[in-house]
This record gives sequence, C-alpha cells and structure tokens, in this order.
Amino acid sequence: MGNWKMHGGLEANAKLLADLRAGAGILADYCTLAVCAPFPYLAQVSSLLDGSAVSWGAQDVSAHEKGAYTGEVSASMLNDFACAWVLVGHSERRAMHAETDELVADKAKAALAAGLTPVVCVGETLQEQDAGQTLEVIQRQLDPVLALGAEAVSRLVVAYEPVWAIGTGRSATPAQAQDVHAAIRARLAAVNAAQVRVLYGGSVKADNAASLFAMPDIDGALVGGASLVADEFLRIAAA
Ligand code: 13P
Repeated sequence: MGNWKMHGGLEANAKLLADLRAGAGILADYCTLAVCAPFPYLAQVSSLLDGSAVSWGAQDVSAHEKGAYTGEVSASMLNDFACAWVLVGHSERRAMHAETDELVADKAKAALAAGLTPVVCVGETLQEQDAGQTLEVIQRQLDPVLALGAEAVSRLVVAYEPVWAIGTGRSATPAQAQDVHAAIRARLAAVNAAQVRVLYGGSVKADNAASLFAMPDIDGALVGGASLVADEFLRIAAA
C-alpha cells in the first residue's frame, strides 16, 4: 500500500497511475495493491484506476458522520469516490495534529461503519524505543481499537510504522520489525483476530522489501517515498 502523503499533482499523478495500472496486472494475482492519495485527487485516482488491479484510499477520515466540522472529510464522502481503504492514526497526524489513541479508534469505527477498511497505524518514537517502551506504546495505541470488538477488529488492517524509520532511510531490521509484529499478532489473537493483516512501514524500498516480507508476521508494507516512483513500488510488490 502506497501512502503518497502530501505529494502529487494532476499531471504527475496521471503518469504514476498509468504506470501502476500497466505494471500491476500479474502482481495482483499474488498481493493486494493500493494507493492512498490526498483528498483532492481521489476523483482522479478513482477514474484512472477504475477496473484496474490497484485499489485506492485516503490518508485520513473524520470520526464524525457529518456536520459543522470545517475541513474534515467523512467516511461516506470517501465512499463517493469508491475508496476501499483509509489510513487512520498515521504518526504524522498523531504528532502534528494531536490525534489521540481514542480519536484514532473513533476514526476506525467511523470508517468501518461506512464499509471502508481502516489501516490503523501504530509506532513508537526514537525516544520511546531508546527507553525500551516500544511494546508498551504499541499496546496503548492499539487498546482503544481492540476495544471495538472482535467483529470490528477482524475487518481492519494494522500498520506498524516506527517513527524513527519513516522517511529516514533507516528501516527497522527484519528481526526488529518481526518482534513487534509478533507482539501485535498476539494482541490481535487475544481478540480472535489473528488473521488481520499487519503491514510494516518505514523506509521500505525495493532492495529491503523481500527480507522484511520473509518474516512470518509481516504481511505487507505501507510505503511512503518509494510509492511515488512506479517502478520502485512495483518492485516492492513483486518482492
Ligand atoms: P517512508 O516509506 O517514506 O519512510 O514513509 C513511510 C510511511 O510513513 C508510510 O505511511
């Protein structure tokens, strides 16, 4: 799954989407491919990817259904553009928009209610990692989401993105990521949702993807920078 973040423009997107569409065919027999685009481009993405092997989603959603929430976008609005996915609780939103664990769970709930699949992002900062708090932080972030209940949890995706690995070129090692993924899997299993897909994110590139995907509890990737280059993104999918 690609997360374009705040990148793109009509012209650049058209080329990227055409390249993805052309390259995705055979890969889609083996994996799920998706891109999460900025809100203004969802119409373009849905029209250019319609009928292709690549699905699409947004990078955030309001916890509210409708109302006086200037600047917010509801899950039903995302449905108007046939989004399949929506990221919730990306670390950039937690850090820069003060999103709390409870708000992230509310967003996941709103997405599920509208039939979207939320991709719940969790991950510790460098400071928290250095203090040995990784698993504690992940558990705290996941708890309100797990409290939504087994049925809800079974319909979402979790993405583990250590903040120190995002955009730094310093990916977690496969073993480091696997340790955290195993802990996340155990938490999911405790609510009868062990089959939920757990993606890794943080400096995933074509040359480190295969070693990450070789880990038993890493089911895929949430890719930032490398998702803006069609060839690189398709090579990650091929891995
Ligand atoms: P990078 O792949 O650019 O490190 O970004 C990861 C990420 O934050 C995806 O959501």
